[in-house]
Amino acid sequence: MKTINFGTTDQKVPAVVLGCMRINSAADPVAAIETAYDHGINFFDHADIYGQGECETIFAEALKKTSIKREDIFLQTKGGIVPGKMFDFSKEHLTEAIDGSLKRLGVDYVDAFLLHRPDTLFDPAEVAEVFNQMHQAGKVKYFGVSNQNPGQIELLKKYVKQPLVVNQLQFGIMHTGMIDHGIHVNMTDPRSVDHDGGILEYSRLHEMTIQAWSPYQYGFFEGVFIGNEKFPELNQTLTELAEKYHTTPTGLASAWILTHPAKMQVIA
Ligand SMILES: NC(=O)c1ccc[n+]([C@@H]2O[C@H](COP(=O)([O-])OP(=O)(O)OC[C@H]3O[C@@H](n4cnc5c(N)ncnc54)[C@H](OP(=O)(O)O)[C@@H]3O)[C@@H](O)[C@H]2O)c1
Repeated sequence: MKTINFGTTDQKVPAVVLGCMRINSAADPVAAIETAYDHGINFFDHADIYGQGECETIFAEALKKTSIKREDIFLQTKGGIVPGKMFDFSKEHLTEAIDGSLKRLGVDYVDAFLLHRPDTLFDPAEVAEVFNQMHQAGKVKYFGVSNQNPGQIELLKKYVKQPLVVNQLQFGIMHTGMIDHGIHVNMTDPRSVDHDGGILEYSRLHEMTIQAWSPYQYGFFEGVFIGNEKFPELNQTLTELAEKYHTTPTGLASAWILTHPAKMQVIA
């Protein structure tokens, strides 16, 4: 497994992460964890809202049935999304979210905690307070964000002491916004519009690891594009290249992300 440094830290992490958002529909969660681990994927991505907490619980129960030790894996979770209310980065909610994830995962600490999606009404000083408490208590090692633009990250950085080492963003063959506008500079077509404030360049400048979520989906969870008859030309190319490089179309779609010199992680 190819490894990269986790943001600006010396922590080595695998280029491929197992996303656990759908582990509650896995036929055999133990096999999913063991197969990933045997292939060098010792990094697992969670969020408190995945299956309303069920995914973290299922993962913890499955992990106990393996011989894999807690210290040999990297556990990441996210918080800040509240079903029905949308987003909440208040001190009370984030504290509850992290403690809840630790309880469900059955661990004393998570390796990384990410703010899941921006909360318009957030107070960065409150977030900083929670991060300090969680870090000092040894409950969270590294911090990061998800779905945030450079302005939002800079605002947080004014208050948060710990480095923000990661940003989880949707990126892949069917989500090319981060690179489109760069290729269309000085043009007036829709792709020339930068929707995300130059987040790719910002992440590279600040050595924040980009984690590409839902890499095989098109639209917002509309479905998988691989083998999908809606995209015949793309699938023909994926199949041809997969044969040429002795891999699968899924492998190729992952390599498309990992080949970018920004040193990203794919969350499959
Ligand atoms: N930060 C965020 O806002 C955010 C949002 C969404 C997701 N995420 C993270 O990203 C992870 C991955 O997201 P995702 O599950 O939507 O994305 P995905 O990896 O793009 O899609 C996986 C789904 O596609 C199916 N699939 C069908 N054909 C496939 C193929 N050829 N190759 C791979 N998968 C195929 C899988 O089915 P089988 O299970 O049957 O293989 C599975 O249901 C999540 O688990 C979560 O950790 C983060």
